[in-house]
Amino acid sequence: MSEPTTQPETVPDAADHERVLVIIPTYNELENLPLIAGRVRAAVPQVDILVADDNSPDGTGDLADRLAAADPQLHVLHRQGKEGLGAAYLAGFAWGLERGYDVLVEMDADGSHSPEQLPRLLAGLADADLVLGSRWVAGGSVVNWPTSRKILSRGGNLWTRMALGIPLHDATGGYRAFRRETLLGLGLDDVASAGYCFQVDLAWRALKAGFRVVEVPITFVEREYGVSKMSQRIVVEALLLTTLWGVRHRASQLRGLTGRRREPAVTR
Ligand code: GDD
Ligand code: MN
Repeated sequence: MSEPTTQPETVPDAADHERVLVIIPTYNELENLPLIAGRVRAAVPQVDILVADDNSPDGTGDLADRLAAADPQLHVLHRQGKEGLGAAYLAGFAWGLERGYDVLVEMDADGSHSPEQLPRLLAGLADADLVLGSRWVAGGSVVNWPTSRKILSRGGNLWTRMALGIPLHDATGGYRAFRRETLLGLGLDDVASAGYCFQVDLAWRALKAGFRVVEVPITFVEREYGVSKMSQRIVVEALLLTTLWGVRHRASQLRGLTGRRREPAVTR
């Protein structure tokens, strides 16, 4: 198992002129927010940060405001209450797209997604429309997860691969870089998944729309402070929705084969 990277990787030249927004959703991440913001700033100084806080009871939102007052590259989106990771990201994407960012990155606040590895995600965008940080490809790893959580993630990804017939190894992960054109092509207006299957939803939409989706290995380090918001409800939502999407997709493929109804051509 490889150790967490602490040395920032080099940012690719191609990304130099692109405006990158790192969106960090937060719910009760008081200890983690200053650490992650500092690491992003040190590792990839040119990117902007948007904290999307769901009115955290522990005051993460106020702390974000104080950080923003001292850092013109850090912004805060205050949301009314806890509506799930997916909703926070959708609001963050809309904020960034409106302001003309070229690349929008998803990153957890708890340090699991090493800012020091962000350069490799950005480098991946040279040949891709969406880059997924992947724990379950060669070179990827997870540090400090109990076996139960590893089984859940690997099992969830195996199920996702089978149900949807997609080639991804880590479709549930949440460390990603999107080109703005990719987000604009995903039909985000009707995304309903709220929990972590939001991640599967977006990867699946990107593949169906014909975008190039590439996985790059990451070292996922379990949080040291605060608690995970993963719950049984989130797992059940993911299981039900991926199954439903898979069944629907197969049914429409069958209709296409029997000539009763053709799928509309993929456009992008
Ligand atoms: N604004 C907001 N609202 N943020 C949220 C919410 C919410 O309802 N729920 C979670 N978050 C934030 C957390 O504060 C954290 O920054 C990030 O989303 C990830 O939450 P964790 O609770 O730390 O997730 P995890 O470590 O259990 O799950 C990781 O693995 C999942 C499965 O692979 C994440 O990387 C997920 O994105 C991933 O799907
Ligand atoms: Mn986490």
